[in-house]
Amino acid sequence: MARPVILVVDDDAGVRESFRLILEDHYDVVDVPDGMSALDLIRTSQVDLVLLDIRLPGMDGIEVLERIKAIDEGVEVILVTAVKTVRTAVAAMKLGAFDYVTKPFEEDELLSLSRRALERRALEREVAFLRSEVARTHDLDEIVGQHPAMERLHGLVAQVARTSSTVLVTGESGTGKELVARAIHLQSARREQPFVAVTPAAMPESLIESELFGHERGAFTGAHQRKLGKFELAQGGTLFLDEIGALRPELQVKLLRVLQEREIERVGGTRAVRIDVRVIAATNTDLKEAVSRGAFRDDLYYRLNVVHVVVPPLRERISDIPPLVDHFIRRDNKRFNKRIQGLSPEALTALHAYRWPGNVRELENVIERCAVLAEGPVVRLNDLPLDVLLPQQATKVRAAEALPLNEATDQFERQMVLRVLDSVSWNLTEAGRILAIHRNSLRVKLARWGVRAPGGER
Ligand SMILES: Nc1ncnc2c1ncn2[C@@H]1O[C@H](COP(=O)(O)OP(=O)(O)OP(=O)(O)O)[C@@H](O)[C@H]1O
Ligand SMILES: [Mg+2]
Repeated sequence: MARPVILVVDDDAGVRESFRLILEDHYDVVDVPDGMSALDLIRTSQVDLVLLDIRLPGMDGIEVLERIKAIDEGVEVILVTAVKTVRTAVAAMKLGAFDYVTKPFEEDELLSLSRRALERRALEREVAFLRSEVARTHDLDEIVGQHPAMERLHGLVAQVARTSSTVLVTGESGTGKELVARAIHLQSARREQPFVAVTPAAMPESLIESELFGHERGAFTGAHQRKLGKFELAQGGTLFLDEIGALRPELQVKLLRVLQEREIERVGGTRAVRIDVRVIAATNTDLKEAVSRGAFRDDLYYRLNVVHVVVPPLRERISDIPPLVDHFIRRDNKRFNKRIQGLSPEALTALHAYRWPGNVRELENVIERCAVLAEGPVVRLNDLPLDVLLPQQATKVRAAEALPLNEATDQFERQMVLRVLDSVSWNLTEAGRILAIHRNSLRVKLARWGVRAPGGER
């Protein structure tokens, strides 16, 4: 990460030099002799913290301070003053200065003050970033789906959004659990507040606790400054705890406590911090079963499971494939500046026949790939990845989902035939020649699969 930039504003070259000596080991330091040059610099380049002398030639420090804040409220300012002007400095804090130091100052004092000011700036940026994330993803957040199961899900989302209850979202990988969580947040009264997503199972074990609950400075080796955890970053908003089934037992206890007490304690901290956060947890494992195995605490399970939202796998709602395909094509056209109109009927048939172990995410990836690679305005069977066309290849690695041999052979045959037909524009004679079977046999097969030539056969 880039080093923070500190701007020193003082008309005395000696003072500027001494600031530089103290700070330049830790920060990038720039200096100017007056307010005007300071403002120019802030307008044109990145400045994180300003050490601002109150007594300056021309425009005085207070006025410079006001103007800095008008340019960029996020820039932190520490006023530097002679003892006599402490009162001015105090007044200046009302104008948004972080703090002040009086000359002569101690090296340590200056360093620690600068560090704290920069911490606040970093935190404010993080919060701003999280807010903008919420805004940015807004238009991508539509949950597409008209299948009755999805209609029920829309209704449930709208209903829980009106409350602050804890929600448990379950479903296979890639079904849209996070999307559902975001939708609940965005439809709730908390929508202006942050939505923070966190996957404790994906974090290094030694860091999980401080990531979730934050830590105080010096809580452990390397904790150089106070850090807020995800719970505090989500204050007022929603915290999405992903892959909750993989949470370690000690953390299950801690999480249970947070949900009960509605307060957290930072690592190395001595007092509790009140938390106003809606928790949405998600898992693709069977939590109930984990409870009966003793791998997941039942009391935590009941705390999380106040409202249970189940997102069905894609293969149980294949009627949603066409609208999902349209949705992704529209989005990818914009993203990749393409003009894809849709899929050929055979390609769509193949998508319906596939089992989608990776659910909507897999479909999304397949469409994205097609959008990038397809040459014409229509995605044809040949443009689809082999995984989808010849799913039994993939079932080799997913023994549990392997099909009986006759079904697998049939599926393979169908994909093969459709693929060839697609490539010869449904000329049955030509396809028969390539596949070395009679065109009448081809007709019989197509009839058995219920496949009709798009626009009539040739
Ligand atoms: N109904 C839907 N409509 C539109 N897009 C969807 C839908 N469901 C899922 N997606 C998209 O599919 C992708 C996967 O969704 P998401 O990350 O929410 O799944 P998940 O259930 O959290 O998966 P995992 O268990 O792997 O974390 C996302 O890009 C999401 O936008
Ligand atoms: Mg997810």
